[in-house]
Amino acid sequence: YPELKTTRPVVLVGMMGVGKTTIGRRLAPHLGLPFFDADQEIEKAAGMSVSDLFKTHGEASFREGEARVIKRLLDGPPHVLATGGGALTNAETRALIAEKTLSIWIEADIETIIKRAGRRDTRPLLQNGDPRETLKRLLKEREDYYRAADIHVHTQPGPHNKTVEVILEKL
Ligand code: S3P
Repeated sequence: YPELKTTRPVVLVGMMGVGKTTIGRRLAPHLGLPFFDADQEIEKAAGMSVSDLFKTHGEASFREGEARVIKRLLDGPPHVLATGGGALTNAETRALIAEKTLSIWIEADIETIIKRAGRRDTRPLLQNGDPRETLKRLLKEREDYYRAADIHVHTQPGPHNKTVEVILEKL
């Protein structure tokens, strides 16, 4: 693959369960960059899981921590960053990502997301109600934010290798 044409951080955005973490982790070594996952950084900083953070402190408090963690990472050296699906609901985070990064929207069909996200119960927003309806509503709220990304990739069901290849071709 050609050498990366950017020194900006590469940020993956998109709904929960589309594979941002797996894709980011596999993409990073191709670009010679370290990989960070925003959810994991929040868990480290808070000393508890995302689910427990939602339960104990609520979504608003989680969003504040999420924005702080993303800002700290983007202020640092270049890296590949997988954001949580709701990160772009924060206006400051949206502005930072638009200004400073090369952003990639990873998109997947709702059915694909359901299959992937349903396997683990680590997603507090899918704990109540019909996950399909929740995902549809969240996508409606967030789609414009995702669409503003520099690059758009639609993933297929199955392993993520193909998606990584498509991204490397588009960079
Ligand atoms: C969320 C997505 C999750 C996590 C939290 C909230 C969302 O991240 O940050 O459960 O609002 O879409 P992933 O996109 O990594 O699942």
